[in-house]
Amino acid sequence: MVSIALFGAGRIGQIHGRNIAASRRAKLAGIADPMPDGANALAAATGAPVRSIDDLLGDKSIDAVLIGTPTDTHADFIDRAAAAGKAVFCEKPVDLSSGRIVKTLERVKAAGVPLMIGFNRRFDPNFAALQRRVADGVAGEVEMVSILSRDPGPPPVSYIERSGGLFRDMMIHDFDMARFLLGEDPIEVFSLGSALVDPAIGKAGDVDTAAVLLKTRSGKICQISNSRRATYGYDQRIEVHGSKGLLSAGNVHETTVMFAGERGLTADPVQNFFLERYAAAYRNEIEAFIDAMERGRKPSPDGADGLKAQQLADAAQKSLETGKPVEVV
Ligand SMILES: NC(=O)c1ccc[n+]([C@@H]2O[C@H](COP(=O)([O-])OP(=O)(O)OC[C@H]3O[C@@H](n4cnc5c(N)ncnc54)[C@H](O)[C@@H]3O)[C@@H](O)[C@H]2O)c1
Repeated sequence: MVSIALFGAGRIGQIHGRNIAASRRAKLAGIADPMPDGANALAAATGAPVRSIDDLLGDKSIDAVLIGTPTDTHADFIDRAAAAGKAVFCEKPVDLSSGRIVKTLERVKAAGVPLMIGFNRRFDPNFAALQRRVADGVAGEVEMVSILSRDPGPPPVSYIERSGGLFRDMMIHDFDMARFLLGEDPIEVFSLGSALVDPAIGKAGDVDTAAVLLKTRSGKICQISNSRRATYGYDQRIEVHGSKGLLSAGNVHETTVMFAGERGLTADPVQNFFLERYAAAYRNEIEAFIDAMERGRKPSPDGADGLKAQQLADAAQKSLETGKPVEVV
C-alpha cells in the first residue's frame, strides 16, 4: 500500500484525492490546503484527515506527495518533499521558469526520489492507443502530427495573470503530446497568437488563440492549434500522418446517440471540459505512479519531460514576441 499526501484541494486536487483514495493500492494519508472548504469537502468524501504541510512532510509513514497547488508553488514543494525523502507527483507545469526547473531537478536527483509530472493526456485511453500504434509503426514513418486543443471558454483574467501565458499554461500539454508522438525532440519553433476571444486577455499581455509549428532534426513537423474558446465543448483531436497512412483520435461525445433527419445528422455535444474528458486519464496516471513506486521503477513522464515541454513553451513565447522562428537546443 503506497501512502500519499495531497497538497492542494482545488479543482485538480479534488480529482487526484478521490482517485488516490479509490485506488486499491494506495492510501490518502492527508490533505493540506489553507482554504478549509476544499480540504474539508475532500476529507468528507474520502475519510482522509486534513493535516498541515509540515506534519505530512515529517511523517515517515508517508511515501509520496501529490502537488496540486497553484503553479508558482510547485518548485518549492518539490524541493521540500524531495528533501524529506518523499516520491513526488507534481501537476504541470513544474514551474514558469526553465532555470528554476533545472535547479529543482538537480535537487530531486541529489535526493534520489522519483518525480512524475501530470501530463495526463498520455494516459487518455484514446491518445495512449494512438501512441502505441504510432510506436508499432502502423502509420509508417511519422511525417506530420496535428494537434487541436480548444477549451470551451476562457478562465478568469485573474487566473490568466498568474498562469504564465497560454503557451506555458495550456499548450504545455500539447508540447508534451507532440514529443510523445513524434518520438523526437523538436529543434525549431514558430508561433503566431492573438487575443480574439477576450480583449481583457490581450490587455493582460496574453493571447487566447495560437498556432505553433514545430520541426525535429529529421524534418518531422507538428502543428498545434489552441483556442480558449469552442462553442461546442472541449475540442481535443489528434492526427498522425505517416508514410503508411493516417492515425487519428477524435472527440469524445456525451453519448453515442445520433439523430438523422431531413436536415442531416446531429450528435450529442462533445464532453464539456477536462474533468469529464480526462476522467479516465487522471485515474490511469495515478495508477501508473503507484505502479512505478511499487515496482521501484522510474515514473514517466518525469521531470526531464516537464523541462523539455517548458523549453518548447518558452521558445513559442519568444517566437510570438519576435515574430521569428526560434531554435531549441
Ligand atoms: N493536468 C491537468 O489537466 C490540470 C488541470 C487543472 C489544473 N492543473 C494544474 O494544477 C494546479 C492547480 O490548478 P487548479 O485548477 O486545481 O487550481 P485551484 O486554484 O482550483 O486549486 C489550487 C488549490 O491549492 C490551494 N493552495 C494554495 N496555496 C497552497 C499551499 N501553500 N499549500 C496547500 N494548498 C495550497 C488553494 O487553496 C486551492 O484550493 C495548477 O498548476 C494547474 O496548472 C492541471
